[in-house]
Amino acid sequence: MTNRTYTRDISGHVGETITMAGWLDVRRDQGKMVFFDLRDMFGKVQCIVLPNHAEAIETAKEVRPEWVLKVTGIVNKRPEKNINPNVVGGDVELEVTAIEVLNKAETPPFEINTDTMAVSEEVRMKYRYLDLRSERMTKNIRMRDKVVSFFRDYMHKNDFIEIETPILMKGTPEGSREYVVPSRLEPGNFYVLPQSPQQFKQLSMVAGFEKYFQIARCMRDEDTRGDRQPEFTQLDYELSFVDQEDVISYTEEMFIKMVQSVYPNKKIQQIPFPRISYAESMEKYGNDKPDLREDKNDPDLLAFCWIVDFPMFEKDSEGGVQAVHHPFTQVMAEDAHLLDTEPLKARANAYDIVLNGYELGGGSIRIHDREMQNRIFQLLGLSQETIEARFGHMLKAFEYGAPPHGGCAQGIDRIVMLLQNEPNIREVIAFPKTGEGKDLMMSAPSEISDKQMKELGLQIRK
Ligand code: AMO
Repeated sequence: MTNRTYTRDISGHVGETITMAGWLDVRRDQGKMVFFDLRDMFGKVQCIVLPNHAEAIETAKEVRPEWVLKVTGIVNKRPEKNINPNVVGGDVELEVTAIEVLNKAETPPFEINTDTMAVSEEVRMKYRYLDLRSERMTKNIRMRDKVVSFFRDYMHKNDFIEIETPILMKGTPEGSREYVVPSRLEPGNFYVLPQSPQQFKQLSMVAGFEKYFQIARCMRDEDTRGDRQPEFTQLDYELSFVDQEDVISYTEEMFIKMVQSVYPNKKIQQIPFPRISYAESMEKYGNDKPDLREDKNDPDLLAFCWIVDFPMFEKDSEGGVQAVHHPFTQVMAEDAHLLDTEPLKARANAYDIVLNGYELGGGSIRIHDREMQNRIFQLLGLSQETIEARFGHMLKAFEYGAPPHGGCAQGIDRIVMLLQNEPNIREVIAFPKTGEGKDLMMSAPSEISDKQMKELGLQIRK
C-alpha cells in the first residue's frame, strides 16, 4: 500500500490527510457519530466519523471488530482533556473521510481487546492467530524478538559465528526420549531430531571455529509442563581454549547487559551472581534451582545464581548410572582419581544458571580426549560395540587435534517467560503445543496417507 501511515508515526502528521490500514479494534456507535480504534502492528489510533462524511458513516455503521480496513482521514490534535500520554499516538485522532473494507471478519470466539488470559487455553490455541492479536501476547512475542536479537548481536560483537546444525541427525544422549523420523531411502532406518546441537557444536570446535553460537531449535519427547515444551529454543554456544571461569564470566556479563539494554526497569539482585555448590543448594533449599529473591512479590527483581560442582553421575531408575549433565562433560581434575574407585562421588566441570527459581541454562567443560571419553561411556555401562556404533564419530574427531573446549545453552523460552512475568512458556511461544504435545490449530500429530506409509516401509502395529 503506497503512502500508508502507521499508528506509530501519526503524531507527526497533524493537519494532514493520511491513509492508514489495520484492524477495527473497538467501535462505539453514537448515532450521529461513530468512534472506532484502528489497530496496526505498532498500536491503535482513535478514529472519528462525523455526519458530514455520509459514505464513511454508512460504512462505519456496518464494520465490526476485527474487520480489515483502509481508512483515510485528517489527523487532528486531541482536545487537551482527551489526550492519553501513555500510548503512542494518544495525543491525536483521525477524522475519517473514507473507509474501504479490505476484508470482513467473523465474530471472534473470544474478545481480543482485553487480556486473553481468562479465556480457555484450548480455544486460545485453536485460534492462536487471534490470541496473538491481543496486546499482551503481541508484546510477549515482540519482546522475545528483542531478547533474541540482543543475544545474536552480542555474540557477533564477541566474534562468535552462528552455524546452523542439522535437524535430521543421529541420537544424542541428553537424557530425554527422542523424536524419530523414518527414512524413505533406507526403510527401517531413522533420523533422530536433536535434543540439542551438543555434538555438532563440539565438532565445530574440532573444526577450528573457536566461537560458535546458534539460536537453536531443540526437540525432546518428554512430558510437557509449564516450563517445558516438546520443541523449544536455546541460545547455544561453545568456545575453545576456555575454562569454567571463562564461560561463567562471559555468560554473566551477557545477561547483565541484556537486562540493562532490553529491560532497563528491572533490577538484578546481586552482581556478581552468587555461586552455590550443588551440595549446598540441595542441603539449604532442597533443590538445585533456588529462588533467591528477597522480595518474591517484586515483578522487576531478578535473582540470578550459578549452581556449580554437580556430581558427574547419578543412579538411574534401573540401578545403573547416568550422566547428570551429559556424557561429554569433563570430570573435575582433582576428582579424576575417583572415577576408578567411587565414580558417584566425582564432581563434574559443569554449571547451571538459575533465575528466580528456574533453571535457565547449563553447560560444562567438555572432554576432548579420546581415551577419557571412551572411559566415561564405559562407566555409563555402554559396551565397546555400542560406543563405536553411537559415538564412533566423536571419538574419531578427538583423534585429529580437538582443542580443549566448553560451553553453555540457555533456554530462550524460560528467559522470556521470566522477564515478561508470565506463568508458563506457552505465553511467550507464538505457536506452542498443549500439555499432550498437540498443535490444536493444525491438529498435529495426525495420520499420514497409506502411500506415505508404504514409501517409508512402515506399518502400524495395532
Ligand atoms: P540442557 O539439557 O540443560 O543442556 O538444556 C539447556 C536449557 O534448555 C532449556 N530447556 C528447555 N526449555 C523448554 N522446554 C524444554 N523441554 C527444555 N529442555 C531444556 C532449559 C535448560 O536449562 N547441550 C546442553 C548444554 C551444554 O552442555 O552446553 C543442554 O542442552 O532452560
